[in-house]
Amino acid sequence: MNKIEFLDLGKQPITNNFLDTQYPKDEFFYNLKVVFDEKSKLVSLKNFVPPEKMFNETYAHRASMSKTMRIAYKNLSDKLKKKFNTESILEIGSNDGVFLRNFNSKNVVGVEPCKNLAEITNSQSIKTYDNFWDLNLSKKIHKEHGNFDLIYSANTISHIHDLNEAILAVENLLDKNGTFVIEDPSLSEVLKKNSYDQFYDEHAYVFSATSISNLLNLSDMEIFDIEKLSTHGGSNRYFIKKKIGNQTINENVIKTLNEEKEIGIERIETYQKFSLNVKKSKDELFKIFENLKKNKKRVIGYGATYKSSTVLNYCNLNTDFIEFFIDTTENKQGKFTPGSHIPIKKPLPDILKNVNYAYLGAWNFKNEIFEKEKEYIETGGKFITHVPKPMIL
Ligand code: TMP
Repeated sequence: MNKIEFLDLGKQPITNNFLDTQYPKDEFFYNLKVVFDEKSKLVSLKNFVPPEKMFNETYAHRASMSKTMRIAYKNLSDKLKKKFNTESILEIGSNDGVFLRNFNSKNVVGVEPCKNLAEITNSQSIKTYDNFWDLNLSKKIHKEHGNFDLIYSANTISHIHDLNEAILAVENLLDKNGTFVIEDPSLSEVLKKNSYDQFYDEHAYVFSATSISNLLNLSDMEIFDIEKLSTHGGSNRYFIKKKIGNQTINENVIKTLNEEKEIGIERIETYQKFSLNVKKSKDELFKIFENLKKNKKRVIGYGATYKSSTVLNYCNLNTDFIEFFIDTTENKQGKFTPGSHIPIKKPLPDILKNVNYAYLGAWNFKNEIFEKEKEYIETGGKFITHVPKPMIL
């Protein structure tokens, strides 16, 4: 047993389970504990939540709802078209088609187990399989579409419990000169920003270049480039190819691996220290909310993200401290946050009037939000964040 537990974030609900009633009778909770595998260097949840509980037809997150993300996917598709052969493209976890809709290639295929989202993409004439990603599906797709020049997957591989099978399923469909691009939150960024809210039911793993590299050793593929991204609070984009002949490995790969070594990504002590910082963050954030309550300030939440669910439930923040959340995602509006049971409202034009503080659930979209809420800020409205440490902005 190489897995060492280093963090206990308490009882947590399904982050996607936005509630129809404020106090449901049978809400599902699990123990959110995080472990470090000394051999593979993978950081993962100790107890995986059954995928069907998280990824189903009620899935709320719509990637195309954020302007930042729409622009990021458009720019990325332009870049990939220039750099690689993109005649045939497969996306694993295609959400509502926000990435694939930028391609007009011969063969564009999506895989999305949430039926509501797969339906949206299918209705845009993009062939989408509403299944979980595994070897059987990969074989089926191979029969129907052959190999792919580009296989792309953002914020999905880290959701898949059986990583070895997921990687073999990719290898099976990737053309020998093809490129596999994955992006997921970066463990270095989590450690640097103390953003423990990257741990929640869906994020079975938080990857480092080190752990991805170890994982690929089980296949005939390797990382040949890495890009650092600001999306989702700091992610890495890994460019992966089949090992054929002498390939150039970009120096970014060695640089990133070295940087990770320097911050101690391979050592359990690093995670034990991180765990102490997380406990401190909890106490400090709670104190901020307690103080505002004592001073009778009006406090709301801004962006009922999945990440914020970890914070609210771990720090015991509920309607005693946060009046309501606002969120632009329609299917979250009128519902209640999982576990913490805070109402979620539509951000109507006057909603921030007389609000003193807004907790940034969507801290990763801080710039977009600050730009949008100039009037609120100019009239004295403040934001609260817990990243990189609890403070008022
Ligand atoms: P994500 O971090 O999982 O992408 O979710 C972001 C959530 O934040 C999503 O539900 C939309 C919400 N949001 C707002 O309500 N207002 C905003 O201005 C932005 C950028 C996001």
